[in-house]
Amino acid sequence: MRQRRQDNIGISNLKSDELVHNSFVEMMFFICLAIFGLKMHFHGGISSLDHVEEELMVHNVSQHVSQQQRKKPHRQRYIPCEVPFIDSVNYLREPMDNNKFAHFYLGYAEREERISQNDTFEAHFGGHQTLEERDKSYHARSQTIHCGFVSGPDGFPGTGFELDEKDKKYMSTCSVAVSSCIFGSSDFLRRPTSKVISEYSKKNVCFVMFVDEQTLVKLSAEGNVPDDKGNIGLWKIVLVRNLPYEDMRKTGKVPKFLSHRLFPSSRYSIWLDSKLRLNADPMLIIEYFLWRTVSEYAISNHYSRHCVWEEVLQNKRLNKYNHTAIDEQFSFYQSDGLIKFDPSDPKILLPSFVPEGSFIIRAHTPMSNLFSCLWFNEVDRFTSRDQLSFAYTYLKLKRLNPDKQFYLHMFKDCERRAVTKLFHHRMDN
Ligand SMILES: *[C@@H]1O[C@H](CO)[C@@H](O)[C@H](O)[C@H]1NC(C)=O
Ligand SMILES: *[C@@H]1O[C@H](CO)[C@@H](O)[C@H](O)[C@H]1NC(C)=O
Ligand SMILES: *[C@@H]1O[C@H](CO)[C@@H](O)[C@H](O)[C@H]1NC(C)=O
Repeated sequence: MRQRRQDNIGISNLKSDELVHNSFVEMMFFICLAIFGLKMHFHGGISSLDHVEEELMVHNVSQHVSQQQRKKPHRQRYIPCEVPFIDSVNYLREPMDNNKFAHFYLGYAEREERISQNDTFEAHFGGHQTLEERDKSYHARSQTIHCGFVSGPDGFPGTGFELDEKDKKYMSTCSVAVSSCIFGSSDFLRRPTSKVISEYSKKNVCFVMFVDEQTLVKLSAEGNVPDDKGNIGLWKIVLVRNLPYEDMRKTGKVPKFLSHRLFPSSRYSIWLDSKLRLNADPMLIIEYFLWRTVSEYAISNHYSRHCVWEEVLQNKRLNKYNHTAIDEQFSFYQSDGLIKFDPSDPKILLPSFVPEGSFIIRAHTPMSNLFSCLWFNEVDRFTSRDQLSFAYTYLKLKRLNPDKQFYLHMFKDCERRAVTKLFHHRMDN
């Protein structure tokens, strides 16, 4: 392993396209793949656990062992693969804004008036998008669409996700944002691995952890108290008041999908679930997953499931959500174009129809923002299980916009494992 690290440093001064073709890296990659495949074969049958816990390795969680663990033989079932980052942020060159990515203007519905003067109207964070508006919103063209943060008419209570003005002001200055959230005290705080993060990124990237009051109280009680600037380690802690949904998982989809709204002047963002620790430099991540692949949206595939049909069964088996609601969503999707994943189809649009959405890298281009809004709206309308709506949203967007490309890069789950470290969710609640 030591050998491998040195080799990496040795090749890192090459241009990125030469890097990709480096045969040594490729060889390591295929060895890792082979091991990965083997492990899957041995452990593919476990189904009694949450998909999150299912993939988890059992090992001692300690802040100081992360470097050693990269060198020691891995005990986890799914092994990270080699991610050939460039050596240093000093070699970063942002690609020129070319005309490859679609250009159009997206506006966002901010306020809704009640349509009729009856008393049943309730203001909702996601608004009241009609099915007709929903269909229109899938067209990639200049228009105003629903994308969360919709307020009701005057006199109605706020629809939630309220932030302090000073936090909003700070967030509006970010040009690159890394964010995560913990709501309902569902997790521990995992600080990004500071020593792998460049001074450049520490200075220029915003690291924001959204929490609710309950989580903040719990973290403080455990000794994680934000400093004078509101930081815990690299994380800037941002308190969210008045959560928009009773379902915490649904609330978690607000920062997950809507980073372009929360960080309105940001050009790039990285999302990671609270179960993950960021273990690589965010700018190197952006270079590797977006710039080098000329993509505007990058997400990993699921480590074992590729078909939404399987995902539906698994969600029900693990009782992840109200079965009736899953069925309603699934049958709606089937009646509107969702097909089974067929790996033998030469025209297949994605390597998998099921994502592992715990780690997402985005350029905030119009198409990428549109996809994020559309996916969020599916979660708002149906279930919070976003693995169920990903392929539908993507396929419908492609189908309705044959003349506009959406450069989505679906990378391998083992690459996600190489740049983030996976932990158990908090168990004590
Ligand atoms: C984890 O490691 C630390 C120090 O390396 C040790 O003190 C602790 O007992 C270990 N915990 C478990 C659960 O093995
Ligand atoms: C109240 O208004 C909503 C939305 O316009 C409508 O769907 C509903 O049928 C109305 N209810 C009554 C009792 O009029
Ligand atoms: C399950 O979902 C259905 C359809 O959305 C709803 O009518 C029902 O009340 C839900 N059941 C529970 C227990 O929440």
